[in-house]
Amino acid sequence: MIMPLAKDTGAPEPTTQGPRLGLRAASPFVLHRGVQRVDVDLGSRAYPILIAEGLLRQAGSLAAEKVPPGRVAVITSPPIAHHYLEGLLASLREAGFEPHPILMPDGEAAKSFSALEPALCAMAGAGLDRRSAVFALGGGAIGDAAGLLAALFMRGIPYVQIPTTLLAMVDSSVGGKTAINLPQGKNLVGAFHQPGLVIIDPATLATLDDRELRASVAEIIKYGVISDPALFDDIAGGCPQDWAPIIRRCCEIKARVVEQDEFERKDVRALLNFGHTIGHAVEASAGYGGWLHGEAVALGMVAAALLSRAHAGLSPSDESRILEAIARHRLPTHWPELDPAKVWEIMRRDKKFRAGRMRFVLADRIGHAFVSESPAESDVRDAIASLARKLR
Ligand SMILES: NC(=O)c1ccc[n+]([C@@H]2O[C@H](COP(=O)([O-])OP(=O)(O)OC[C@H]3O[C@@H](n4cnc5c(N)ncnc54)[C@H](O)[C@@H]3O)[C@@H](O)[C@H]2O)c1
Ligand SMILES: [Zn+2]
Repeated sequence: MIMPLAKDTGAPEPTTQGPRLGLRAASPFVLHRGVQRVDVDLGSRAYPILIAEGLLRQAGSLAAEKVPPGRVAVITSPPIAHHYLEGLLASLREAGFEPHPILMPDGEAAKSFSALEPALCAMAGAGLDRRSAVFALGGGAIGDAAGLLAALFMRGIPYVQIPTTLLAMVDSSVGGKTAINLPQGKNLVGAFHQPGLVIIDPATLATLDDRELRASVAEIIKYGVISDPALFDDIAGGCPQDWAPIIRRCCEIKARVVEQDEFERKDVRALLNFGHTIGHAVEASAGYGGWLHGEAVALGMVAAALLSRAHAGLSPSDESRILEAIARHRLPTHWPELDPAKVWEIMRRDKKFRAGRMRFVLADRIGHAFVSESPAESDVRDAIASLARKLR
């Protein structure tokens, strides 16, 4: 496990956060049997992640322990609303809330200025105030947009994440990064704004598209490689019957990383980028309708494993195990149409390219990773080019 040194105590409060007006002090949640709890310990911004099948039905009573009753906004998009909005609204009403559903465009279209303004107007029009809260019901796109709405509305109100994709459950709903996109790039406008509570109901995965689900598994493989050999073994064996224990372990890893590096000022949070430096560039090079994020990350991890063998002492057998785990979930390990020159160009323009040296997350074994500057440009270009060939 990653357990470095001290927490990020010297960091100033983010400007959009403000004091947690309206949020009740930490309370000992009355939890039913079988509910797993992971705490994100960020001092005054601490919050619990609760995980259990069927938890959506209890969302109202759980939220009532953190958010005072009153008007709240429920941010979602039409496909998610179709499955889960009515149940959430009923649960919130039962617990004494007055929920106002606000539908945003689906997917990345939610993460734009043009989608934020009508949502903010709807919040103001519904009479929300500084004591109100936002509920984000959806995948990472809705979570990122709703989190930013909560950060912006009246200079910051609390919000509750209710992730409905596997990616959002294991990654984006935890950690307080909120963002929208610009034509110039993804996630270029945003705020650090931690949720007050994360409610994860793995039963919602039943309606998720199989390709979306498998793509998210790439992030779980990533957590295993950077921090948890047992988690790696579990996910390398295939999809579990019960997702809750796997989600809990991913949330624990993410929580420990965020506790140590909330504002991404050290190299700790950067460890989550294993497979992402090349993966992002592959994703961008494929353009719209190409790879899903997790699929591109799978390709990025293949390249990162190759670099790790050459520069971090990763054993050939661990490298093979990473590739096998990726292939097991029918994620790509190579891409014959890949344009290495284009991928390299996109990477060079990436914000993570600092002072002429690329910083890579490399693994020296499954379960341990670190940030390295040792791969030279030619090594990185070779690793990218190798993705076009079926090597093994
Ligand atoms: N904030 C962070 O730390 C962080 C981390 C990783 C990714 N992200 C962001 O997350 C976004 C991607 O999130 P995503 O992969 O969840 O995609 P997404 O939010 O776009 O959702 C994918 C699709 O699944 C549908 N969907 C969601 N839940 C469903 C369900 N239970 N049943 C049926 N359909 C459902 C959605 O309507 C959408 O069409 C990106 O914008 C990325 O930048 C943020
Ligand atoms: Zn990712």
